[in-house]
Amino acid sequence: MNDHDIAGSASVDTSPRGVDFNPLDPELADDFWPRINGLRETCPVARSTAHWSAENTGFWVLNAYQDVMDAAVNWNTYSSADGATPVQFDLNILRMVPLETDPPLHRGVRRALNPFFTPEALTAAEPSIRATVDGLIDTCVKHSPVDFVAAFTSQLPPIVFFETFLDQKASDIGWVLEVLDVLLTQPEKALEAAPKLFVFCAELLQARRAEGRTDDLAGVIAHLGTGEFDDGLELDDRVRMETLNMTIMAGMETTMGGLASIARILGTDNALRESLRDVETKVLDKHVEEFLRFETPVPTAGRTLTADTELRGCPMKQGDRVLLNWAAANHDPDKFPDPEALNFERPNGSAHLAFGAGIHRCLGNHLARREIRAAIRAISELHVFELEPGYDVKYRPSFARGPVALPIRLER
Ligand code: HEM
Repeated sequence: MNDHDIAGSASVDTSPRGVDFNPLDPELADDFWPRINGLRETCPVARSTAHWSAENTGFWVLNAYQDVMDAAVNWNTYSSADGATPVQFDLNILRMVPLETDPPLHRGVRRALNPFFTPEALTAAEPSIRATVDGLIDTCVKHSPVDFVAAFTSQLPPIVFFETFLDQKASDIGWVLEVLDVLLTQPEKALEAAPKLFVFCAELLQARRAEGRTDDLAGVIAHLGTGEFDDGLELDDRVRMETLNMTIMAGMETTMGGLASIARILGTDNALRESLRDVETKVLDKHVEEFLRFETPVPTAGRTLTADTELRGCPMKQGDRVLLNWAAANHDPDKFPDPEALNFERPNGSAHLAFGAGIHRCLGNHLARREIRAAIRAISELHVFELEPGYDVKYRPSFARGPVALPIRLER
């Protein structure tokens, strides 16, 4: 086997190997699990020769569950302040806050945002999430067969987020859906589309400040570090804008990818889908966790070492870039026996890393879970929900993983 062939052999070799692992490789998207599993099996700690930013190449990839977990909870050594995306953009243009920060700034921002995303806070939003799901499913049934990605999974996260957290009407956010569509389907036009969202964020923050409004997410972000709360934060308008922008964007492609991957499974496994009809919420919740482990919609995250360290004999240096491979960890048989099988009875099913771990564990995890649960509930109640037989599902090579399109027939 040559050094660039990462799939294949099951023998474990713990020495650092040069592999050409690029998380955004279009070929990886369509041959995802064989390559991810092959990487973990042959190089638990791999050294990739690929790019991690426009200028830089060469990074470590951690693939075993325990290594990924240990690194994720050790923010002191595995810092996010130099970027946390798998392939890094210029942080001088846009930093994602709180993701691409370390404490103390991170702690202060999370403390302010957390109350909006607790299970209790989201229970209040549940009827409206369910109503949005039902409305979208009605439209899909009416126009069946539909591309379920365009008609449902791309619509639900933005509508829920803008209605629940930003007090915007679904009918007013057509432009948001257009911007998201461009970002997802024509990333080369991102520089044209993204500024619309920045302008929206800046204007919303300005309005909340002018109104002195602090009763919604945008209002709280607008007042962070202004002295109006006792938050002890020192930040400026730019960081406030970066925070609002991130809370909006972080839940879009991620939840869309998760919903679409699950819809693919339910659209091809009718027995499973029907078995979920009328089940108790806690049964559904177990399914949500196992689907998230199995699909891992956000496969990787970036970190930068603040000190020299050693892992499985690999000498890692201060300043080295490290990729945490949540996907490989979630299919590590040492943690999840028979990982390629969907097993809704796993005793440790919720130990998956689909939402990360440590201080950066996903802010919106309960929101995503509620949306996914409501969608599965509605899909399970349909008389017919069937992916076009023989359809060759393609996956997007992106930071969040999900099918590009899903032609599905629906009947009530
Ligand atoms: C299925 C859907 C989702 C998945 C799989 C997902 C996954 C993740 C992962 C893996 C991280 C950790 C990244 C890292 O450690 O570098 C993260 C962080 C984050 N997520 Fe999510 N996410 C989802 C939905 C959402 C939603 C709906 C929101 C809405 C607010 C959201 C907001 C965030 C934020 C703000 C962070 C940064 C947290 C911090 O740095 O403290 N995510 N997400």
